[in-house]
Amino acid sequence: MKDVLHSFAPGVLALLFLLPQGVQAKEVAAPQQLANVVILATGGTIAGAGASAANSATYQAAKVPVEQLIAGVPELKQLANVRGEQVFQIASESISNDNLLQLGKHVAQLAASAEVDGIVITHGTDTLEETAYFLNLVERTDKPIVVVGSMRPGTAMSADGMLNLYNAVAVASDQSARGKGVLVTLNDEIHAGRDVSKSVNIKTEAFKSPWGPLGMVVEGKSYWFRLPAKRHTAQSEFDIAKISSLPRVDIAYGYGNVDDTSYKAFAQAGAKAIIHAGTGNGSVASRVVPTLQALRKDGLQVIRSSHVNQGGFVLRNAEQPDDKNDWVVAHDLNPQKARILASVALTSTQDSRELQRIFWEY
Ligand code: DGL
Repeated sequence: MKDVLHSFAPGVLALLFLLPQGVQAKEVAAPQQLANVVILATGGTIAGAGASAANSATYQAAKVPVEQLIAGVPELKQLANVRGEQVFQIASESISNDNLLQLGKHVAQLAASAEVDGIVITHGTDTLEETAYFLNLVERTDKPIVVVGSMRPGTAMSADGMLNLYNAVAVASDQSARGKGVLVTLNDEIHAGRDVSKSVNIKTEAFKSPWGPLGMVVEGKSYWFRLPAKRHTAQSEFDIAKISSLPRVDIAYGYGNVDDTSYKAFAQAGAKAIIHAGTGNGSVASRVVPTLQALRKDGLQVIRSSHVNQGGFVLRNAEQPDDKNDWVVAHDLNPQKARILASVALTSTQDSRELQRIFWEY
């Protein structure tokens, strides 16, 4: 592990040599003014380690402990009083509903403490958008909650994790970030946890929101350009304290030549809802419609989303008679976010009209 910390050092040391003489370090707030920020580490690439500095894509995720992440960015101390907790140490493709509940309940506990002003969650980027949206739905707090990851491990040249973590702590310690819902900071951008998704798996500018980021964070300062329009956090009707389990919701992918096999298998496995990740505007192949109609009649909820990659926009009764079929549309939520919302919503209602209201509002 020492060599991993050592590999962080050159980045920091290089910075010192590159700084032109006479550059005034950022004004350091008096310690008593610094916010108290807790960093919850869950794993991912931001905690990854590769064999050499040339390995920006070949590495092992979820290796570096939270203390090492914090030690690798000594400048955090200028932003906030920071302490770290290792909640999980896993690659985020392995995050389960139980992990989400455990993390969510811990975040709520911390948010309720007067000793905590902001929370940063370091996370793998594969399912970061799901965790961020989940917390956006169930954390009843105005305090900043910022989810952050990186596209390169800290051992790689031009690693992005250090600056991403610095930016995340800067936003989490900034009063202006209060009440804006769960936020995601990567690549100097501040995104709404509801809107953002991973659009590419090999670039540092991987995270995009179809309707644009909320702002930028530059040299530790947040700049806001827009505000979230949908219900979130303190305005949400959902509360992690009242959720003991998340109903099973699965995603079935639509494509040419598709048949109803996956839909039937998910129903057999006990899914309470199926997210149809449709082509175009959530279109459903004619071969599949009768099965979905039958599954709905058996009580399973059918929710039409779109797997188009720049963000779908699925409306009711446009391509399918949703009223007649008693189906729900996911509007602009991609399939993986629709799964999160459906699972949370099903903890409070089984009524399809209520579900549709929830999909319009969140
Ligand atoms: N295994 C992936 C994950 O933990 C690596 C991707 C990343 O974290 O950037 O999400």
